[in-house]
Amino acid sequence: MSKIFIAGAAGNIGTSLLTALDTAGADVVAGVHDPDKIKTMKSLGVDARPFEFQDSDSMVRAMKGCDRMFLVIPLQEKMTRYGHLAVKAAKEAGIEYIVRSSGYAASSDAHWRLGREHGMVDQFIEDSKIPFTVLRPNTFMQNFSGYYMDMIKSGTIALPEENAKVSYIDVRDIADCAARLLLDSEGFENSYYALTGPEGLSLSDVSTQISDVCGCKIKYAPSSEDEYIRSLGDMSVPQWNIDMAVSLTRVVKLGMIGNVTKAVEHLTGKPARTFASFVAEHASAWK
Ligand SMILES: NC(=O)c1ccc[n+]([C@@H]2O[C@H](COP(=O)([O-])OP(=O)(O)OC[C@H]3O[C@@H](n4cnc5c(N)ncnc54)[C@H](OP(=O)(O)O)[C@@H]3O)[C@@H](O)[C@H]2O)c1
Repeated sequence: MSKIFIAGAAGNIGTSLLTALDTAGADVVAGVHDPDKIKTMKSLGVDARPFEFQDSDSMVRAMKGCDRMFLVIPLQEKMTRYGHLAVKAAKEAGIEYIVRSSGYAASSDAHWRLGREHGMVDQFIEDSKIPFTVLRPNTFMQNFSGYYMDMIKSGTIALPEENAKVSYIDVRDIADCAARLLLDSEGFENSYYALTGPEGLSLSDVSTQISDVCGCKIKYAPSSEDEYIRSLGDMSVPQWNIDMAVSLTRVVKLGMIGNVTKAVEHLTGKPARTFASFVAEHASAWK
C-alpha cells in the first residue's frame, strides 16, 4: 500500500484532502508547519510531522517512508523558492508521484505574475522527472467564507473586477480530485487539469446569491484598482501579496477565468459542486 505525504495538510485544501483520504482508508502522513496543529492532529491519531518549506532537511525527514505526495504552497513571497526546495526534497526522499495544486491559467511564461509564479513551480516538477499530475484550480468559493468574510459582513463586496465572471470552485472538489489521483493515477500521469466550478459568476451574481440565503442585502460595488490597493495596504497586506492580488483581478477583468471545464467530473466521476450549494451550507457564517 502506498504511503501518501501531504504538504500543507492543515490548510484549506489539505484539511479536505486529509478527510477524503481518511474516508478511503489511505495511509497518510501530514506535513504541518504549526506546532500546535501538529499536537492536535497527533491527538486525533494523524501521523503529523513538522514541515518547513525553508528547510530542505525538515522536508526530507517529514517525507521519509512515503512514495506519493500532494504539494500545495502557501501564497507567500518565497513560494517559487519553496516549490524548488520541496521538489528537490521529494527527489531526495524517493517520492515516486506528485499531485500538485497550482493556480488557474498558470504557466511559466504567463503574462501575469501569480500565474507565472505557480507555473514555474509546475515546471520544476516536470523537470524533476518525478511522475506528476498538476491541478490548476480556479478561485476558491471558500474565499467568501474566509478572506472576504469581513467585506461581506459590512454589506458591500468592493473589488476591481467590473462585471467579469469567474468559475469559482469548491475546495472540496480540488481535494476530491487530488485524493482520486493519489489513490490511483493510472492514465492521468504527466498531465495538467484546469479545475473549475460548474458556472461562471460575476460578483453581482455572488452578492445576490449570498443575500438571498442570508435574508440580508449584500451589494457589489466595483472599485478601482487604486482603491483596492489602498484597502489592502490599510489591512497591512504585504506588498508582494498586493501585487499578486492585483495581477489576479486584471486576469479576471480580461475574462480569462470565467470559462468552465469538466475536469472535476472527469477525475472524480461527480459533477463539480455549485455555488448555490456552497452558499446554502455557509449561510449561518454570514448571518
Ligand atoms: N484562494 C484561492 O482562491 C486560490 C485559487 C487558486 C489557487 N490558489 C493557491 O492555492 C494555494 C493556497 O492553498 P490553501 O488555501 O489550501 O493553502 P493555505 O491554507 O493558505 O496554506 C497551506 C498551509 O501552508 C502552511 N505553511 C505556511 N507557511 C509554511 C512554511 N514556511 N513551511 C511549511 N508550511 C507552511 C500552513 O501550515 P500551518 O497551518 O501548519 O501553519 C498552511 O496550513 C496558494 O498557492 C494559492 O495561490 C488559491
